[in-house]
Amino acid sequence: MKLDVSSLQSVREFVKVFKERADRLDILINNAAVNAAPLSSTEDGLVLTYATNHFGPFLLTNLLLEHMSKSGTETRVVNVGSLSHVTADLDLDYITPHKAKHYIDSLQKNMIKKKDDLLLYQNSKLMVLMFTFELARRLKGRHVTVNCVQPGIVATRMMEDEKHFFRNLIMKLLKPFARGTEDGCQPILHCALSSDLYSVSGKYFGNCVEDHSLHPMALDEQMCKQLWRISENFTRLTDS
Ligand SMILES: NC(=O)c1ccc[n+]([C@@H]2O[C@H](COP(=O)([O-])OP(=O)(O)OC[C@H]3O[C@@H](n4cnc5c(N)ncnc54)[C@H](OP(=O)(O)O)[C@@H]3O)[C@@H](O)[C@H]2O)c1
Repeated sequence: MKLDVSSLQSVREFVKVFKERADRLDILINNAAVNAAPLSSTEDGLVLTYATNHFGPFLLTNLLLEHMSKSGTETRVVNVGSLSHVTADLDLDYITPHKAKHYIDSLQKNMIKKKDDLLLYQNSKLMVLMFTFELARRLKGRHVTVNCVQPGIVATRMMEDEKHFFRNLIMKLLKPFARGTEDGCQPILHCALSSDLYSVSGKYFGNCVEDHSLHPMALDEQMCKQLWRISENFTRLTDS
């Protein structure tokens, strides 16, 4: 089945076909992401990195929740986050492409030399965590749990970055210390499958244990609610 998670139409079409073919869903892992994508806009007028890493998975998850509740037993949503979210610099008033550019320019004027694609990735992963925490609050009392997991440094395509010489060099130096893919997916599988995590929801996990290194914004309930409202609007969730 085809799914371009950065396209709201593709997400909607995927969900429609999925619901026709499957009568239940036990585990949803939101793993797809882009890292070194320069600031650009999708057909829906969203920042590509935000659309792929947060808005698409937000819509997908919400549209599939009803199907997950049908299962009768506990079902799980696992959102794949990243350690790097702790250095995010997210302003929820500046997440449309035009405003994001303005924001990045102003940060760079203030001598914050972070590359825009890296900043967008970090911000998107903070959004994933905020979405996880808010969804967990909304799912209380239902048989669906949601947790976020960061897999550590894993030797995947995401570690290859031919576009930036220095980042590519750093990635190459880090590669010998990175986990292999089989090892790297264990924290994600742990969240999806471990019986130890029965009824556990709204947590952030690192190497199969709870990770408390959180960006302060993720702990701010009002901010999480604000992101939820923005995500609902941008994805036109309530029209679905
Ligand atoms: N590798 C690390 O060190 C590391 C560290 C922290 C977090 N993570 C997280 O781990 C997850 C997996 O990343 P990875 O390391 O395995 O990177 P990867 O090798 O680049 O894989 C990314 C995956 O996302 C898919 N994808 C990208 N855009 C998509 C779209 N619009 N629609 C559907 N699928 C799309 C890609 O599909 P195609 O193959 O079709 O392009 C690919 O399968 C990500 O959420 C990433 O942020 C990775």
